[in-house]
Amino acid sequence: MNTRVLSIDPFRIDETVIAEAARVVARGGLVAFPTETVYGLGADALNPQAVEAIFAAKGRPADNPLIVHVAHLDQLVELVEVVPAAVEVLAKHFWPGPLTLILPRRPVVPDVVTAGLDTVAVRIPDHPVALALIRTSGRPIAAPSANRSGRPSPTEAKHVLEDLDGRIDVIVDGGPCDIGVESTVLDLTAEQPIILRPGAVTAQQLEPFLGPVATDPAVDGGAEKGIGGEAGVHVDGPVRSPGMKYRHYAPQTPCVLYEGTGAAVAAAVAARVRAERSAGVRVGVLATAENASRYEADALCIGGRRSAPETVAHGLYRCLRQLDEAGVDLIVMEGIEPVGLGVAVMNRMRRAAAYRTLVAPS
Ligand code: TXA
Ligand code: MG
Repeated sequence: MNTRVLSIDPFRIDETVIAEAARVVARGGLVAFPTETVYGLGADALNPQAVEAIFAAKGRPADNPLIVHVAHLDQLVELVEVVPAAVEVLAKHFWPGPLTLILPRRPVVPDVVTAGLDTVAVRIPDHPVALALIRTSGRPIAAPSANRSGRPSPTEAKHVLEDLDGRIDVIVDGGPCDIGVESTVLDLTAEQPIILRPGAVTAQQLEPFLGPVATDPAVDGGAEKGIGGEAGVHVDGPVRSPGMKYRHYAPQTPCVLYEGTGAAVAAAVAARVRAERSAGVRVGVLATAENASRYEADALCIGGRRSAPETVAHGLYRCLRQLDEAGVDLIVMEGIEPVGLGVAVMNRMRRAAAYRTLVAPS
């Protein structure tokens, strides 16, 4: 299959580009498109064959369900059994935006989308290209991140091309994604709202509207700690968010992560880099701007500034891909404080490191 790349300016939408991509969706094809979080790999959510093609293109395990993207609440009502009052409140404050809600599904949603679960994940993305594609195609669009399964999510069209060239019909290139980490996944079907995946919408932001919001223990590794396995390695026991069973967001190169506060983490990373290199190991470092000059590495990528976690989120996956390509033997990651968007950043770094995490003494 020949993958076509269609460029578009998100600030001046070219409707002919959208119409072309929408036709591909309507006839059951696969279209990668930008959202405010990461690029998605979209297909008509109500067409089971089209959704199966997403799983095939990504090499995604069939038991990992997809998020359905809609453009407005009327479209959501068709997909879910009930719309709890909380949804309207959350929609008002957080949609369009990086918040995915898990709700009881209607039978119209194909099993392949939900991996047979009786719930469906939905969100309204905050990106003009994504919204235009959903509206023009007239379909709800099922879309996981547009990477090969287990790889870091794509935040630029060229990352999608690296992973999926020849496997999908179209990539709509709308430039780099703003946020850089995937949406917050919030399960509203349990007694208490529970975060299954941290993202740009934090528990603290949700609590004024919902009361206490829990976080699934699987988010921090839970049963998975210490496995350090391949993409697709299973964890025993029930997991609420099937995606949390798999090693994710990971470069092919082994990674270690240092956690701690600024000065301590920088000293620990610098010492590790020195020790590895004197033993002949080629080391790549994922650094923050504040500490980058302290690391004498074979390859270095600055994700962003420690003082501004949103900049680290924005650069994280780009850096992981760059360091992977640098041909080093080991990637050492400088962790940031798990506060605000830093919670989501650290979750992705821990998973990339397959929980090979070291805490720098402060
Ligand atoms: O920001 C995002 O959410 C991006 C953009 C493209 O919207 N999408 C994305 O999709 O990250 P994906 O497939 O890579 O991650 C979806 C996550 C997985 O962890 C999956 O297990 C979980 O959502 N999920 C989907 N449906 C679910 C359900 N019914 N119950 C529990 N978890 C669900
Ligand atoms: Mg993904």
